[in-house]
Order: sequence, then structure tokens, then C-alpha cells
Amino acid sequence: MQKKTDSRQYYTKITTHVLQEMKLKGEKIAMLTAYDYSMAKILDEAGIDVILVGDSASNVMAGHKTTLPITLNEMIYHASSVMRAVSRGLVVVDLPFGTYQGNSIEALHSAIRIMKEAGANAIKIEGGEEVIESVKRILSAGIPVMGHLGLTPQSIHKFGTYVVRAREEDEAKKLIKDAHILEDAGCFGIVLEKIPANLATQVTSEIKIPCIGIGAGHGVDGQVLVLHDMLGITTKFSPRFLRRYHNLSEEIKGSVNAYIDDVKSVSFPNEREQY
Ligand code: KIV
Repeated sequence: MQKKTDSRQYYTKITTHVLQEMKLKGEKIAMLTAYDYSMAKILDEAGIDVILVGDSASNVMAGHKTTLPITLNEMIYHASSVMRAVSRGLVVVDLPFGTYQGNSIEALHSAIRIMKEAGANAIKIEGGEEVIESVKRILSAGIPVMGHLGLTPQSIHKFGTYVVRAREEDEAKKLIKDAHILEDAGCFGIVLEKIPANLATQVTSEIKIPCIGIGAGHGVDGQVLVLHDMLGITTKFSPRFLRRYHNLSEEIKGSVNAYIDDVKSVSFPNEREQY
């Protein structure tokens, strides 16, 4: 049998089981965020494995300073738009701040709304032991759950800063314990955000479910980036882990300026562009 090394050539639909298979085979998982139909369609056609409808939509789409203000209704709106575009990738949707932390019944209702109203494939939750009741209750309804450890942006007011997490031994130990707790509960994967690369590598080798890193080095099972950051649409956010594949902000400004020039000089529309 030919060695499977690139999911784009072998899988017509990515499921949580496919991600597990990819981890076993050692094939890296590629994940990006999307919040709207048009971008999600491009990502899906390009062959991305996982699309995350992240609560980073709060920053990127709505211009908020943190991820906290985005509501469940707004997440459902973004997720529904993405779901209409995607046929191959696995779509994971963030449960927003305040919809799962305090009460596992409320967490279940929030997750059910995302699955029912948006038609998502899975949900993601930030935190470990402290949210495990919510995680278990959602899983018990047959909804796939992805964990998120390390820098968890919904807790920014507790941390006070977006610096690297788990550099200290106590925090690293808690993170490892949390990763095992999430795996034992039945999560299908975990995002590890902004933690030392050697810690991320250790967690990835200790647990059997896929670990997707963002600012966590290359010893993980896959990578995730915020689409608008990697395309250079957003320009202010420049952490060391971010690789920019484009400078779309400048390109778009160039096109818009060319359009303004054409309108003002009446070179647009020309004879062929009118009826
Ligand atoms: O909301 C988001 O975009 C995320 C990624 C940074 C992992 O959670």
C-alpha cells in the first residue's frame, strides 16, 4: 500500500477519526480559522484539514480588543456561513466566553445550539479540569469536543497579558495533567497555544489524541493560525510564532487606490463595461 502522507490526496471528508489516523501515521494536520462563506470556500477548496470558527472573530471581524464580547448568536451566524461553504474540512466552532464555564447544563445547551443551528461538526472549549463537567456533559450528547490549553484568550483578564504560558514548573505540570484529563474524558483533540516547544512536544507524545499547536513549536501533530494574521490582512498583531504568507492589507489598499483613480479619472467604466 502506498504511504499516506498528504491528506489532500486521500480523504474526501475529514472527520475526527481521520485526524486520529493522521496522528498515528505521523501526518501533520493543517488548521486555519474562517468566519465567513467566501473565505471558508477558498480554504476548503485548497484542502485545509480543519476550519476553526474561532472566537477570534471577536477581534478580527468585529474589532473588539478581546474575545470576550462575542455572543453565542454571533458565533452561530459565523459558523452557519462557514458551514454553507465547506464540504471536505472538519469544522470546529468555539463556544464563546460565558456560555459553558459556570454550568454544564448551560454548556450543553450552547453546544447543541451550535450543532443544530449552524450544523457544525464539533465544538472547542478553553480550559482543563475547571471545565471538565461541561466537557463531559457535551460529549455525553454525542458532540465532539476539542480542548484548548496554554494561553486561553478568554481568561486574559486573569492572566493580564498574552505572554508565553506554562514556563514555570507548576503551570507546566497542571497543563500536562489537564491534557490527560481532557483525553480521558473523550476529547478528540487539543489546541496548545503559546507554550514552550519542549512542553508541547512532551504533551503530544504522552497523549494519543491529536495536539494542534499555535506558538507551540513543531513537535505537535498540527498547526493552527488565524487566517487574517497569516494573510497579512491584520497588521498590528505580530507575535514571533506568526508566519505571514502574504501582505494582503497592502495589496487590497493598492487595488482600492487604483479603483478610486479609475473612478475619478472616468477611465472606469469603459465602453466594454457598460450596456
Ligand atoms: O479563536 C481562535 O482563533 C483560536 C485559535 C487561536 C486557536 O482559538
